Amino acid sequence: MNELEALVRSAQTSFADAATPADLENAKALFLGKSGRITELMKGLAALPVEEKKTRGAVINTAKQAIEAALNARRQALADEELDRQLKAEALDVSLPGRRRGEGGLHPVSLTLERIEGIFGSMGFVVADGPEIETDWFNFTALNTPEDHPARSMHDTFYVEGGSEASPLLLRTHTSPMQIRHAVQHVKRYRALIDAGQAMPEIRVIAPGRTYRVDSDATHSPMFHQCEGLWVGENVSFKDLKVVFTDFCRAFFESDDLVLRFRPSFFPFTEPSAEIDIQFQSGPNAGHWLEVSGAGQVHPNVIRNMGLDPERFIGFAFGMGPDRLTMLRYGVNDLRLFFDGDIRFLRQFQ
Ligand code: DAH
Repeated sequence: MNELEALVRSAQTSFADAATPADLENAKALFLGKSGRITELMKGLAALPVEEKKTRGAVINTAKQAIEAALNARRQALADEELDRQLKAEALDVSLPGRRRGEGGLHPVSLTLERIEGIFGSMGFVVADGPEIETDWFNFTALNTPEDHPARSMHDTFYVEGGSEASPLLLRTHTSPMQIRHAVQHVKRYRALIDAGQAMPEIRVIAPGRTYRVDSDATHSPMFHQCEGLWVGENVSFKDLKVVFTDFCRAFFESDDLVLRFRPSFFPFTEPSAEIDIQFQSGPNAGHWLEVSGAGQVHPNVIRNMGLDPERFIGFAFGMGPDRLTMLRYGVNDLRLFFDGDIRFLRQFQ
């Protein structure tokens, strides 16, 4: 092997040994740099006679090209390695299972509301919805609740800004305002029929939703649920209320031997009024009377505020607590658990 072949071999080895682009540039300088081996040889040509210059020059040139080719090959190899490394580092394993969203479910109180709607729906009741921010008129006055009634005090009711002195705004304290709202709509629709003395399709409605009172302990939450019920027609009696509510409770709790008690009570918007208690014949609550709803025959003043003649129309109403029904159905003893949002508690109902 002549001197130049050895030089090319030595360059190839140095380039192959260079592990990084910087190492490679350093190795290149040794051969092709300003004072590199090839450059030195080129400079040496100057001292040679013309003929020798040509042949020697051509040989050096061949060596130089071989070294440059080795350099370029190594540069490319290093660049390929780097690209390969990056691709590997940033690789996306598309065969990995994705992150799944947890499956949601209905809140236990929502499950109860669905159940209530289903059972009353099967008895011909429609479902109505209305505002949670109410006027004083719908929440109290129209429901025959006098100015000095304790329920109207700041102590029990959340008043909100935006109302006027004549018409204060508040968070509804019960779903009863929906009795008026729904009945007024219904009556408006059938006004002509009613005035002509013809039969008005009966009002049969339930109105579930959120209600608010200044109250908080194990059995009271400042936000709670109620479900209003209203049945108005020309021939509705207290017997109908008893039948409907008994059927409802037995269907809701899936217990045919469940017993109901109507205990005399007072509400401004019903006369007579009752509290409805239920008694289970078996299970953890067997034998106890449990209050589940207020009820009564709709007061003539309320019938009048619905736009109907109390001499002709009669009805009954009830207002029950779905939160309490949920507690009884699932055996939960602290109402606050429903509204804390603790997923460990809520998940048990899915
Ligand atoms: N609104 C009453 C309350 O919140 C419950 C109630 C009682 C509703 C009797 C009624 C009813 O419709 O007839 O305490």
